[in-house]
Amino acid sequence: MQLFRASIAHFPKHTSEFTNDIAVYHDGGLLIDGKHIVDVGHFDAINKRYPGASIVDLSGKWILPGLIDSHLHYPQTQSIAHYGEQLLSWLENYTFPTEMQFADSAHSSAIAKVFINQLLKNGTTTGLVFSTVHKDSCDALFNEASRIDMAMIAGKVCMDRNCPAPLQDTAVLAQKECAALIEKWHNNGRNRYALTPRFAPTSTEAQLAALGELAQQFDDVFIQTHLSENLDEIAWVKSLFPKAEGYLDVYDKFNLVRERAVFGHGIHLTPNEWARLGEANASIAFCPTSNLFLGSGLFDMSAARANNVHVALATDVGAGTTFNMFKTYGDAYKVSQLRNAPISPLEGFYLMTQGAAIAHNLDHEIGNLNAGSAADFIIVEPRFDELTMLRIQDNAEFDDVFFALSILGDDRAIAQTWVSGRCCYDNKMLQ
Ligand code: GUN
Ligand code: ZN
Repeated sequence: MQLFRASIAHFPKHTSEFTNDIAVYHDGGLLIDGKHIVDVGHFDAINKRYPGASIVDLSGKWILPGLIDSHLHYPQTQSIAHYGEQLLSWLENYTFPTEMQFADSAHSSAIAKVFINQLLKNGTTTGLVFSTVHKDSCDALFNEASRIDMAMIAGKVCMDRNCPAPLQDTAVLAQKECAALIEKWHNNGRNRYALTPRFAPTSTEAQLAALGELAQQFDDVFIQTHLSENLDEIAWVKSLFPKAEGYLDVYDKFNLVRERAVFGHGIHLTPNEWARLGEANASIAFCPTSNLFLGSGLFDMSAARANNVHVALATDVGAGTTFNMFKTYGDAYKVSQLRNAPISPLEGFYLMTQGAAIAHNLDHEIGNLNAGSAADFIIVEPRFDELTMLRIQDNAEFDDVFFALSILGDDRAIAQTWVSGRCCYDNKMLQ
C-alpha cells in the first residue's frame, strides 16, 4: 500500500446538485492499494490507521481526482487550431479531410497514442471521445486506453449523408458495426461504448432509428452527439427534419434523449428543450474554448441550473483550443462573466470531477477520491514558474490555487497523472 502525503481536495458527496461541500485536507493522506483508493483524509489519521504503508511525501503539492473531459474528438488532435471558420465550413474545410486519413488503421493507432499522451499530460484520466466513421479507428483508441487501464468512453461516428462519401456508412452498417463494437468493448475492462451519431444533419432518419434501437437494446451504453451549437446548423436541421418540433426533438423521436446521453454544446436551446433535457436526466457538455473559437455563442449555465440539467465541462478538441481542463474552466469563467453570472472556481472544479462523474453515472468509480474509487488521480505543482510562485502562496486555499491555475496554468502544473494505481505520466520524464 502507498500513502501519498500532500494537500488534497475533492468532492466526496454523491448529490447531483452542486454545493460548496468540498473536502480539503491541507496535510492530507491518500492511501491506495493496487488499482483502488483505500482511504483519504488527514495524513496523521491515515498514517496511524495504516502504519505499514510506504509513504510518498509530496508536501507542497496538491492531489486531485483525475479530470474528466466529457466531449472531444481524438482524430482532430492533428487539426486543432485552424483559422477562420464557423462550424459548418470548419467541418468541410478541416475536419472531414482530416478524418478521411483514419481509413488507415496505422494512422489511427499513431494518433490515438498522441491523443492519450496529451490527455495524461494535462491530467485527464477519462474522456468521452468521438473517433471517426471507421470501425478500426474506434478499436485503435480502445486498444490504446486498455494498455493503461484507463476509463475510456468512446464510439464510432455514424454518418450516412451530407459528408464526403468516404466518411459515410449506412443505417444498416452503422447498426451492425456499433453492435459489434459494443460486444467487443462495452464494459470490457474500464472501456465503455457510446453510440455516436455525429449530429442530426449527417444522419438520415433511418440511421437515427437504427441507433435508437441499439440504445433501447443496450440501455447502459452512452450516447454522444452535438446539439444546437450554431445558428446555421439549427436552421439546417429545421430544413432537414421539417416534422420535428425542434433540434432536440429530432433525437428524442428516436429514443436518443435519456440518461447517459451527453449532448455537446446546447448553446441555443429553447425553454422547452431545456425542460426536456432535465426531465430526461440527460447531460450537456459545455465546451467553452470551442464555442469561443468557432464563434458559436455563450453557454447559459443559469438555464441549465434552473432546469436541473447535468452539465459537464469539456474541451471539444479540435474545435476546442486546449486539452487542458483547468484552462477550459478559465474560458468557462470568461463566458460566464460575459453573461454576468460567473461560475465559481469550486463549481468549475466540480464540473470536471465529481459533477461530471455524477452526470455520467460513474461516481462510484471516478470523479472523487473516496475509498473504493479507482486510483485515478493527479499531482499538481501550483508553483511551477516565476509568475505562479509570485501569485500563488504556499498556504493558499484550494479555490484560489485552482482559479489562478485556470488562468495562468498549463500542463507544467501537472506533475504526475496516475491511472488505475499506476503513474502513467511524470513531467520530469520530459526534462
Ligand atoms: N458538429 C458536428 N460535428 C462536429 C465536430 O466535429 N465538432 C464540433 N465542434 N461540432 C460538430
Ligand atoms: Zn464536438
